[in-house]
Amino acid sequence: PEESDVASDGVLTIGGCRVDEVAAKFGTPAYVFDEDGLRRQIRKYVDGLRARWPKSEVLFASKSLPCVAMYAMAAAEGLSIDVAGGGELMMALAAGVDPARIYLHGNAKSDEDLTMALQAGIQAVIVDNFDDLDRLDRLAKTPQAVLIRVIPEISPDTHASQITGGRGSKFGLPLDQVAIAVDRIVQHPLLQMAGLHLHIGSQVLQTDPFVQAVKAIANIGQYDRYDIGGGLGVQYTADEIAPSVDDYLDAVVDAARAVLPADATLLIEPGRSLVARAGVSLYRVDTVKRTGETFVAINGGMADNMDIALTGQKYEACLPTKMRGEPDTRCEVVGRQCESGDRMVSDALLVDPHVGDLLLMPVTGAYSYTMANNYNGARRPPIVFCRNGSASLAVRRETYEDMLDTHAPAFDRKW
Ligand code: LLP
Repeated sequence: PEESDVASDGVLTIGGCRVDEVAAKFGTPAYVFDEDGLRRQIRKYVDGLRARWPKSEVLFASKSLPCVAMYAMAAAEGLSIDVAGGGELMMALAAGVDPARIYLHGNAKSDEDLTMALQAGIQAVIVDNFDDLDRLDRLAKTPQAVLIRVIPEISPDTHASQITGGRGSKFGLPLDQVAIAVDRIVQHPLLQMAGLHLHIGSQVLQTDPFVQAVKAIANIGQYDRYDIGGGLGVQYTADEIAPSVDDYLDAVVDAARAVLPADATLLIEPGRSLVARAGVSLYRVDTVKRTGETFVAINGGMADNMDIALTGQKYEACLPTKMRGEPDTRCEVVGRQCESGDRMVSDALLVDPHVGDLLLMPVTGAYSYTMANNYNGARRPPIVFCRNGSASLAVRRETYEDMLDTHAPAFDRKW
């Protein structure tokens, strides 16, 4: 945080809102966003790409933060939207996003996903496999633009679960099958071959793999549109270094100038790097256990941040009401879920942690809410957007009643 983000009594503010007041109003755990930070990052991408390659579109990989408020804000700030299925499509439409700016992804699209997309009249379906084409054959009643997702055989240096464009990937068509798919589309009376798509992976901390990706997609042939996916990594901890959006755009567009047709449209699909750094997770300390180590246990855990368990992503933590204190206590910040892997931050340095303190984990704006679940009966946390000193609820906290709603009543019959 900047010095100006800390009030005189040492309480951190986000978007001009004191975190203790946000916690009192909306409870914890909560995902709290600096709305201006979010908007600034969106504009960096949208203006930055447009300035370098005017025929371009930035698609928000909405899986990183799929809530109606975010879809509406993304569209208002000039982003198009990438949806991964009917659920995200439904939310984007509910937010009033123009279907002409929506792109549908997925390696196992259902008839339902495709019917919703075709009926809405979305911009393009990203064809991942031949079953997509069979389904479109049956379901398309009017012209529909499609892109073909290809496997570029590039494996960036990131967590294995975050590589999506390497040889053998479950996503997209191998290079030797692309021509067959193109033929089918070109010969189809209703399908329009609009271009190619690839996505190499997530949390990629170098620019070179993206340059390789641009070269790989150019090699496949000349089309109207080239979508090179998302994947730019972000800085989570002090010792991590991530390229800036400008570094990334410079690298990608330099490569595009060298190898893509000059009149082609260039699409990118950032998710994490749009939203991660504008969001924090706000928790309450429930226990402080001093054994050999000091365990600070919070009222959340891997139920609201699956990355801890899935990718081993490292995070940091602070006590946001004691920002002027001297960090003096080395501790393990752990969650409340019944898994030993439910360790949020190892070796955190906190200011005299006590039961009842607020605890904040920065850089948790991406994929946390999305992958939140009900493990151990956890209720999925709310999303709060803070701007100019006012905090607005974008998603309310799930309730026990919500959870019970989906269950068969206990006394319908004897179980
Ligand atoms: N485009 C496609 C087709 C994708 O599958 C993804 C992410 C993106 C774009 C955006 O990538 P980003 O810019 O966010 O890296 N759950 C994992 C992340 C999975 C990413 C899935 N695909 C995690 O929390 O690390």
